[in-house]
Amino acid sequence: MKNKVIVTGANGQDGAYLCQALHKKGYQVHACIRRGSTTKTGRLKYLDIVDDINIHQVDITDYISVLNLFKSVKPQQVYNLAAQSFVQDSFINPMVTSKINLDSVMNMLEAIKTLEIDAKFYQASTSEMFGDVLSDPQNEETPFNPMSPYAISKCCAHYLIKNYRVAYGLQCVSGILFNHESELRGREFVTRKITSGLARLAKGDNVSIKLGNCDSKRDWGYAPDYVDAMQLIVEKQTNSDYVVSTNTTASVREFFVLAANFAGFKPVIEGEGVNEKCIDASTNKTLYEIDRKYYRPSDVSYLRGDNSKICRELGWKPSHDLSAISERMIKFDLDLLSGSLAFDYTI
Ligand code: GDD
Repeated sequence: MKNKVIVTGANGQDGAYLCQALHKKGYQVHACIRRGSTTKTGRLKYLDIVDDINIHQVDITDYISVLNLFKSVKPQQVYNLAAQSFVQDSFINPMVTSKINLDSVMNMLEAIKTLEIDAKFYQASTSEMFGDVLSDPQNEETPFNPMSPYAISKCCAHYLIKNYRVAYGLQCVSGILFNHESELRGREFVTRKITSGLARLAKGDNVSIKLGNCDSKRDWGYAPDYVDAMQLIVEKQTNSDYVVSTNTTASVREFFVLAANFAGFKPVIEGEGVNEKCIDASTNKTLYEIDRKYYRPSDVSYLRGDNSKICRELGWKPSHDLSAISERMIKFDLDLLSGSLAFDYTI
């Protein structure tokens, strides 16, 4: 009999890659997707796995719905990737963010405990919990100093996982994942906003990209590598939390320049602060300008992980550097615009 696995947030970037990987390994995959007027499966369709997995539309903020799902599937593994994952939105909708990112974790842990299911639970924790960093680089021992309602909700869920592990002996673990990008990244996140905007400009559009804080530095990896890390964390059964990162850091501006070069531009940065912009030296076209609307009330200015524990204990390592990631994303966005690819994650 096949091992049964529930993946929440299954149509997100990570969820879709994970469902694909688990299906390939022979798991019976139960993909949990937010209940809404339409079932959004764009990424699952793009990866061609919609017909191979079981799709459930469930509101995970509702305990009874979670209980019923867990009772009917009786999973051996649960990956909780569902979240209100856009940090900027969490300042506008802090309560919704907390409900989705924290209450749903409680619902799932309670369902596992109440039904006495022998399941390993993976929680998507995040480098945003380190916030205004208290040491550099950040590893499993670094104290948290969250800077947004999103990061606070993730910290609470992280401690909930630790508590259910200690108090009830549940097999629950967290992966503290630093930023991870790919062709399937949503356009609200800065890397994809940049690559899709550059592709548009490269195809002749003249409307510049509007960005916020370009000084901000992140440790950016390639999403499929991070999905591999999640599976190692669950399958190796160590019942311990792991940082997943590349151990490098780059600013939004540096990412932009890399991507702009791959899109065929000659990017030159001019001005400072809100007057900063990027011009293409060949055509004089403005590639990006600053718009205050994208500044956050409080931002995380710097992140750089230390992946030594997962590399040493589980044999994981990242396969793509930032240049390779930006090249892949630009190529994908150019192919989308030329019509040689069909993909719409919003449907
Ligand atoms: N989204 C966005 N849009 N961010 C911008 C922009 C813009 O126009 N301009 C500058 N930035 C800056 C943000 O202020 C932030 O400092 C940085 O770019 C990265 O922003 P995001 O791409 O939105 O990602 P994030 O770091 O806030 O959060 C992502 O990574 C976390 C860690 O893995 C999300 O995926 C989170 O859900 C995840 O936990």
